[in-house]
Amino acid sequence: MKTISLFFIFFVTFVQAQYMSNYSCSECHEKIYNEFENSMHSKNYFSDELHRHVADSVSTKKYDCAACHMPAADNLYDLMTGKARPDKHNVTHTDAISCYYCHKIAYVKKSHKHYINVIAKDAGADRPSFYGELKDPEDVEKHYSLHSPVYTQNVCKGCHSYKLNDFNTTIFHAMKPNQDSKECIKCHMPDLPGGNVEMNHKARMHHVSHKFLGIHDKEFRKKGLDINATINGNSLTIKLKNKMAHPLIIQPARAKYLQIRIVRGDKVVWQNYKKFPDEDRQGYFGYRFWKGGKRVIVPSRATKHLENNIDANATKTLIYHIPPPKDGDRAVIKYFVRYAKRDCIKAVNLSNKIWQEPELIKEMVVKAH
Ligand code: HEC
Ligand code: HEC
Ligand code: HEC
Ligand code: HEC
Ligand code: HEC
Repeated sequence: MKTISLFFIFFVTFVQAQYMSNYSCSECHEKIYNEFENSMHSKNYFSDELHRHVADSVSTKKYDCAACHMPAADNLYDLMTGKARPDKHNVTHTDAISCYYCHKIAYVKKSHKHYINVIAKDAGADRPSFYGELKDPEDVEKHYSLHSPVYTQNVCKGCHSYKLNDFNTTIFHAMKPNQDSKECIKCHMPDLPGGNVEMNHKARMHHVSHKFLGIHDKEFRKKGLDINATINGNSLTIKLKNKMAHPLIIQPARAKYLQIRIVRGDKVVWQNYKKFPDEDRQGYFGYRFWKGGKRVIVPSRATKHLENNIDANATKTLIYHIPPPKDGDRAVIKYFVRYAKRDCIKAVNLSNKIWQEPELIKEMVVKAH
């Protein structure tokens, strides 16, 4: 009995396929590799200042963010329990949401605090099997390719669905319980011209984008929200339509808001806030957290959360009372994002200038008649 189990352990470790780095995929999937390297999925603990600062303010011992932010780690359990720290020289750490990891997700399991990705083991294989959506993929000396329905059903859900902290407070929620990943892929991974491999034996004409464009892309982010405005007497009505399959705000560090000005000639005669956009409770979207009766900035300690948000595919109407308009008056509406809210910048001490200033997503002008 003992010899059998010893043999079994030896056998398993011997044949278990080695981790293949992101870079190793570039030999054959160069286009996909280049797209991925510029995407947020390639951002790791060391290269994402916002993430690192928030993580360190939660704990400098345990790094349990690793489940989603460093999932390929060869010592994942040690990171999550505080026996190891992120290591710049470990490629399974710096590869972040790596190609190898994402393409080995076999299924996604529900758990209380967040979903868990279950990774396929390469039982008896001399090289890994990568899952995907191709109907009839080719095998190569570097890996087997397998068609798997998880790549349309649940592949994004393991990390993007929702997260609770230790006090059962929601830190983010992006997907409904029965929502699959088809829609996510349609918008965030559209087809791009050019085959999926450099030696394109099957003469494929396109591949799915691995840029994972989102809020950081100036063109892409314009498509998320439609803004319509009308002036009727002294009321300004603004209709906001969220066209995305997730709430307007997912990430608790973010804020999105409207700056609304009534302009007469070249003078501003009215604005929806005096100094700070969050004075306007309707036009400022984001999360807020409390512990007991006190506001907290870093959500890990919160016992309560509130959000001003717009649900997936929902419409919200805002009504503002403005000064009685004169002919030629116009409403200038600007829609901004802050990657890190003002209080967040202070709480976690961010230096890079991308966190300091809001970024304009889009703007529109309506005339009063
Ligand atoms: C259940 C998976 C999951 C866990 C666990 C998790 N995150 Fe995240 N995190 C995400 C996802 C998904 C995103 C991207 C979503 C988005 O930007 O809205 C993200 C984005 C972020 C961002 C924004 C990064 C940026 O550059 O804009 C910060 C900050 C962050 N997480 C902090 C943390 C910290 C700190 C922990 C650990 C205490 C943690 N996360 C644990 C899933 C997770
Ligand atoms: C030696 C060349 C080579 C290397 C290196 C390589 N691949 Fe591939 N890969 C291929 C070929 C060829 C195909 C088949 C393409 C087809 O059928 O259109 C493929 C197909 C795939 C597919 C599609 C599977 C499907 O069913 O949709 C995935 C996913 C994939 N590779 C991931 C990776 C990842 C991740 C890496 C790096 C860890 C990698 N590959 C490294 C050659 C390679
Ligand atoms: C293993 C966990 C994981 C999986 C699986 C995953 N993501 Fe992510 N995703 C993240 C994390 C973590 C971030 C934030 C990284 C950071 O900012 O440091 C992120 C960021 C993003 C972003 C943000 C881009 C931006 O500009 O802010 C988009 C879009 C995205 N993911 C889409 C997807 C889609 C679509 C899928 C499914 C095909 C998917 N992700 C699967 C963990 C994951
Ligand atoms: C109809 C197109 C569409 C669909 C469907 C869609 N998204 Fe998005 N998503 C966008 C756009 C546009 C943005 C950028 C604008 C914004 O964030 O307001 C975005 C932003 C994001 C971000 C970045 C948010 C941030 O602040 O960092 C993440 C993460 C994300 N999407 C994940 C997903 C996931 C997961 C799904 C599937 C449940 C999905 N998206 C479905 C269009 C879509
Ligand atoms: C966040 C998860 C995720 C990551 C990270 C990721 N992929 Fe993918 N990849 C997917 C999904 C989902 C599909 C299938 C989408 C579809 O076909 O609709 C896919 C498809 C592919 C395909 C088949 C493409 C086609 O259209 O023929 C290849 C090849 C591939 N990925 C290689 C890679 C490589 C190489 C990397 C790293 C540079 C990588 N992937 C990183 C999720 C991911």
